[in-house]
Parts: sequence; C-alpha cells; structure tokens
Amino acid sequence: MKTLWRIKKYFADLIDTFPYLGLSYKIPFLYNLIAASDFPYFFSKQELSDIICAESLKKNSIVLDLACGTGEFSFWLANQQKDIHVIGIDSAESMLECAQKKAIEEKVENVSFFCQLIEKLTKDDIEQHIKEQKLEHDSLSMIVNCFGFSAMRNFEQGFNQALSILPEKSIFCIVDVYRKPSVINYICNFFYDNLLFGADSFRIVYLQMKQQMDQFELYEKKNVPDPLLIYSTITPYIAKGVKKAETMKGN
Ligand SMILES: C[S@@+](CC[C@H](N)C(=O)[O-])C[C@H]1O[C@@H](n2cnc3c(N)ncnc32)[C@H](O)[C@@H]1O
Repeated sequence: MKTLWRIKKYFADLIDTFPYLGLSYKIPFLYNLIAASDFPYFFSKQELSDIICAESLKKNSIVLDLACGTGEFSFWLANQQKDIHVIGIDSAESMLECAQKKAIEEKVENVSFFCQLIEKLTKDDIEQHIKEQKLEHDSLSMIVNCFGFSAMRNFEQGFNQALSILPEKSIFCIVDVYRKPSVINYICNFFYDNLLFGADSFRIVYLQMKQQMDQFELYEKKNVPDPLLIYSTITPYIAKGVKKAETMKGN
C-alpha cells in the first residue's frame, strides 16, 4: 500500500513539472545516485566553505536553501555553522521526504524542510514554518540556491520572489554550472533541455540575475568534462551578492 502511495506521489511530482521533467530531480533515489558520485559539487568542500563563509553569518540567523532537493547542501551548510538554522524548501515532496529522513538518521538538528514553489514563496510561509518548528532564530542572513534555478522553469520569477524575502544587506548565493558556447556544448544543451531532463538545465542563470544585486561576485572554475555527457564541458560557478538597500523594482 505504501509503495503504491509512493508511486502515486512520484507520478504527481513528475506530472506537475511536465514537460520540464527533470526526471532525476524528482526521484530521490536517482538524484542520490548522481550526488553520491560527487556531482553536483564541482568546487571542493574547502573552496565552497571559503567562498560561502557560513561562519561569518549572524548567530541565530536563518539560511534558506531554495530547491534543496534531498538536502545535501542544507546538511553541508548546517554542519558548517551549528548556530544557524537552515530551512530547505523544494516543490517535490518526494525529495523532501528523503531529506527529512536523512536529518533524523544523521541527527542534524539545525535543519528543517517544507514544500513550496519558489515562485510562490512568501515571508508568511517562512514565518509560519518558524512558528511550527518553534525556532528561536530570527533574522534571515542568507539565501542559497544550489543547482536549483537552472532546474526551474521560471527561474527569473523564482529569483525575484526570493529576493523580495531577503532583508537588505543580506547575502544571496547561487551555486550552479553552465556550458560555455561551443558546437558540442550546444548539441548537449539541446539534448539535455529537450530529451534528457527537459529542465533547461544548463542556462547561464546568474547573468539574468547579477544586475539585480549590488555586487554578484563570481567564482568560476575552468571548464571541466561533463560527468554525464562525454565531449561536452561544463563550467561550475558560485555567484555571491549582497542585496541592495533599495529593492530592484524597475531595475
Ligand atoms: C538539481 S536538484 C538540486 C538539489 C539540491 N539543491 C542539491 O544541491 O543537491 C533541483 C531541485 O529543484 C527543485 N525545483 C525545481 N523547480 C522548483 C520550483 N519551482 N520550486 C521549488 N523547487 C523546485 C526540484 O524539485 C529539485 O529537487
């Protein structure tokens, strides 16, 4: 009975995002297989912690991990700095169920999760979650998005919505990859976007967003071989910025 219910839920998640199937993004088992082979972390853990610098965040503050999936990045962040609380948000319940299970198994106490579309995320959602979880953490010090926007149908809308929640002078951080143009990369993008994941997976997300931040410092790595498609290359990057004092309406 439980298996039947699970299949139904996976199916609902898939239908929900059709035609942007992002198959492996909706099935925790598949995604964990990919993540276990070190994808998506093309930056070493040391580089990640140097750039993201979680220990400089305000004590007792909250970090949102958007499109958290099975929570790998949320757990990594939460373990970096024990006095922050990481809230992972994703639209796929099946992924969150897996994240929640991991949090219990690995006894990570400063993380929690809830289900919402990033494009629809509001301050009230966060406040309600804080109440439900009885968190004493108050301000929001950082929003991170690790391989989320590139998997999102309306990533610009998602970014703007998230930015509207972030207090001024707080940090926005995107960890993702894109393909630098070349014929092979172009073909691979087509393959990914239309046939394999259908998730517009390798758009240059930060370009559309960096005008909206005071500064979006960009930490790029050299092109590295694509772990899934030989002959194509991907460029991992981290874009980190501080929210402007003025909201960017009309920007
Ligand atoms: C590649 S996975 C990234 C998972 C995780 N951030 C990590 O680093 O392991 C992309 C995730 O984005 C989620 N997602 C896609 N579109 C979304 C949306 N509009 N709102 C919330 N989550 C979304 C998917 O459900 C999936 O879990």
